[in-house]
Formats: sequence, C-alpha cells, structure tokens
Amino acid sequence: MIVAIDGPAAAGKGTLARRLAAALGYVYLDTGALYRAVAKSVLDAGGDPNDAGEAAAHAQALDPAALEAPGLRSEEVGDAASRVAALPAVRSALLAFQRRVAETPPGAVLDGRDTGTVICPEAELKLFVTAGLEERARRRLQELRSRGETHMLPQVLAEVAERDSRDRARQAAPLRPAEDAVEIDTTGMTPDAVFQRAFLLANERLAELERGSGPDGQ
Ligand code: DC
Repeated sequence: MIVAIDGPAAAGKGTLARRLAAALGYVYLDTGALYRAVAKSVLDAGGDPNDAGEAAAHAQALDPAALEAPGLRSEEVGDAASRVAALPAVRSALLAFQRRVAETPPGAVLDGRDTGTVICPEAELKLFVTAGLEERARRRLQELRSRGETHMLPQVLAEVAERDSRDRARQAAPLRPAEDAVEIDTTGMTPDAVFQRAFLLANERLAELERGSGPDGQ
C-alpha cells in the first residue's frame, strides 16, 4: 500500500509519516528533503535558487546520500527549497526517484506537498495534514531552537506563511488536498493522537484492500 501524506509546512507530517512507516513496516520518503537537498547544493555552489537551468542541473545530479546531509532543516535552506520547488524542471527531475521509492514492497509512506496529487495519484491512502498557522510556527520555532538556532516567533511565523503561500500559488504541482484525501487538522492534538488516528485509517484501508473493496465499500 502507498500512503501519501501532504500538507503545509510544520503541520506534523514528518513525525507522523516516519512513525506510520515504522509501524506498518514500510519505507519512508521525506520528499521535502529532496527539494532541500537540491536547494542546499545550489546554495553551496554559490548559485541562485530561482535560476531554473542551474537548479535543474543540481536536481539531475542529486545523490540520494545528500538527503542525509547536515544543515538541510535550516530556515535558509527551507526558503530556497520552496523556490527551487516552484520550477517544473526541478520537479520533473525528481519524479522518477519518488515513484520508484513509492513502489517498494510491501509499501511506502511519502510526505510532502504533491505526493497524493502528482507523485502517487493511485495511492491507496491519502492524508492531508494541517494545523493553524500560529501552532505550526510555534512547532517550527521549537524545532529550530532544539537545534540551537535562535529565532523569534514573529519572524518564523512570517517565514512559514510566506513559504505556504508560495507553495500554494505556484503553477507546478501546487499544495492542495487530493479529492480523495482524508483531512486531519492537528491543531491542539498530540503527536500520539495524530498517529493513532492515521494508524486506524491505514488499518481500515488495508482491511478494505484485503476484502477487495473501495473506501466506500464498493
Ligand atoms: O516539507 P519541507 O518543509 O521539508 O519542504 C521544503 C519545501 O519543498 C517546501 O517549501 C515545498 C517543497 N516541497 C514540494 O514542493 N513538494 C514536495 N512534495 C515536498 C516539498
């Protein structure tokens, strides 16, 4: 089974996706890390993340080992990631890799912005994970501070809001829920509660697949 988890920045997708993959015994792919790795590669080379030719060349040459590189989670790289992610040539260079990982038996969990709409429209379970802007900014601030980065809430809130509007407004694979996605608003929910809800949905879907029926019992 393929589980596609999409949603805006800092909604708790990564924590959920990693835990769900471990519980189901599936592979996990953080697709945002691909865009972050491309962005970091462009920045390290002194390039411009808005330059399509340059960013696409870095995307085509991307080594999966770069997904583990330190520094991918910084705000600077996140901002540049949202810029390279708006470039169609970058997105198409990363498509085949994502689909290959998604096909890994017995299943895969992908998280990102377009995994249920573009990468795996056939995914058996699609979740759209959201939370209010303030709560997402607070979570991102906590994440940054836990790594020793000093940021203030108003600055992080503005950055998260700017990145979201860029991810939603772009022409290429904009952030939006798939028509058949189940929406989970994690505002005020603990990570544990979010996981329990998603794990239940995954088990229900697996049972339906075993019976050979669709989500509505058809
Ligand atoms: O989830 P994240 O913050 O690590 O993602 C970084 C950026 O990458 C985000 O601003 C939008 C982009 N992205 C995307 O366009 N499509 C994806 N499937 C995943 C991330």
